[in-house]
Amino acid sequence: MSKFYLTTPLYYVNANPHIGHAYTNIIADSMARYKRAKNKEAFFLTGTDEHGEKIKQAAVANNCEAKAFVNKGAENFKKLWTKLDISYDSFIRTTDDCHIKVVSEVISTLKEKGDIYKDKYKAFYCVPCESFWTGPQVKEADGCPECKRKVEEIEEENYFFKLSKYEQWLKDFLKANPSFVMPKIRYNEVLGFLNNNSLEDLCISRPKKRVSWGIDFPLDDNYVVYVWFDALINYISGVGYSLNNDNFKKLWPADIHFIGKDILRHHTIFWPIMLKALDIEPPKRVFAHGWWKKDEKKISKSRGNIVNPLELIKNLSLSLAGNEDAAVNGFRYFLLREVPVGLDGSFSWDALVNRINSDLANDLGNLVFRTLNMVEKYLGSEVSSQTTPPKEFEGCLDNLANNYTTHMDGVEFSLALEEVFAFIRVINKYIEDTKPWVLWKEKKIKEIGEFLYQLCEGIRIVALYLYPIMPKASESIYRQLGVENKSFSLAESSWGKVLSFLINKEAPLFPRIDVD
Ligand code: MSP
Repeated sequence: MSKFYLTTPLYYVNANPHIGHAYTNIIADSMARYKRAKNKEAFFLTGTDEHGEKIKQAAVANNCEAKAFVNKGAENFKKLWTKLDISYDSFIRTTDDCHIKVVSEVISTLKEKGDIYKDKYKAFYCVPCESFWTGPQVKEADGCPECKRKVEEIEEENYFFKLSKYEQWLKDFLKANPSFVMPKIRYNEVLGFLNNNSLEDLCISRPKKRVSWGIDFPLDDNYVVYVWFDALINYISGVGYSLNNDNFKKLWPADIHFIGKDILRHHTIFWPIMLKALDIEPPKRVFAHGWWKKDEKKISKSRGNIVNPLELIKNLSLSLAGNEDAAVNGFRYFLLREVPVGLDGSFSWDALVNRINSDLANDLGNLVFRTLNMVEKYLGSEVSSQTTPPKEFEGCLDNLANNYTTHMDGVEFSLALEEVFAFIRVINKYIEDTKPWVLWKEKKIKEIGEFLYQLCEGIRIVALYLYPIMPKASESIYRQLGVENKSFSLAESSWGKVLSFLINKEAPLFPRIDVD
């Protein structure tokens, strides 16, 4: 079985998780489930970023010791991942001993190689971004070039990593590997940046007198490690990095790092260069998704327009007759269906409700409910008259088999879902055109049996394809159809893999939400 190692960013624990964080983990979870369905051994790493001044300040503001504060923060994220059905394999925290050890080793190795030196430094510092800004274009009055918040001018001695030494290597690497950064627009952004700027060496230490909460800098007791340098290393420490570690040898290079577009440079410039300097292969791909916005603004703590996913799920459940699984699946579906992953999306309650009502309650939910009803009413819950798919299904089934995996492999969830829903609509139309109630009146029991087998088998295939995005909904469909093999392996996607169904109806998958 071949492996597939995928990661998410480590989330800062200074604030509660919001919809943007949920988005990255839902993307990664759907990809992990899809790869497992394709019989790959997926390893999905997520976690929390727990060092730095921003976290320390938040702990102080909450009247809390830093360690107790980050413990609580990490728990908040884990709680959300459980609620959202995120099937991660490991959760790394930058305060974990095994991570701290690897960070120290990395710095010592880079020092031995001559890639770290000490120098005087003058720059503007943005605490919320944990980033230094230099150069004539940065002015204190204008604030941080990234987030526009206040910056402070700082002059101090620090340790530097020789990014500049590897600039040409990175340019050559990117040119030779155009699919290293996806989507294409982000690849062009990185190349454009490298063509218009020469790389400055990266300041990787912070004096303890200014930043006290961090990993001790192994070369000097007066310093801690810069948070970004610390956090990026999680992608190797999280799978047991040391050159002879079997797990590391098996899993590295990562197959995909999922990130948001705001942290592109850290992952496509700093990170591959750090690995190159350590003689470690670069990851195969960095995929940068867009932002969720509200009223045209990025959703973030500092803008105060947070959408809290736990509250959202609670409210959505209330609107869905208390069905929390429907709320979680509806939320996951909305985020992946509404916009292509590389673009920005606009979040609103109305858009969420419309999607759930039209696609999930109407098209999918009704199809399942009325099919199961008919099997109960006409056949006493059992279907076993196997038959080939009707000609109406054929084109759609072929499209699904051909295009679904291409879209999923290309991180095109919305297109993959469109294909599945095209099939759902075809099945619904087949019901209307066949008019089973007429067959029933005419006592055509054999035809009804064959027709209902076709519906049940069609729905089973739909559930299989939907599983990576809406796992609980697919599990429910399988239970209701009485499907025994619950592996959700795509090897089961061909017609006729299940020969009989024993119906066990549950509450509707997605009740319709009232819109006033
Ligand atoms: N701690 C760093 C990452 C270190 S990885 C070695 C960090 N953390 S973060 O909590 O601020 O953001 C984590 C991720 O959430 C980023 O990928 C970011 O793009 C994503 N999102 C934050 N707000 C977002 C939206 N409004 N919409 C979509 N995703 C956004 O950066």
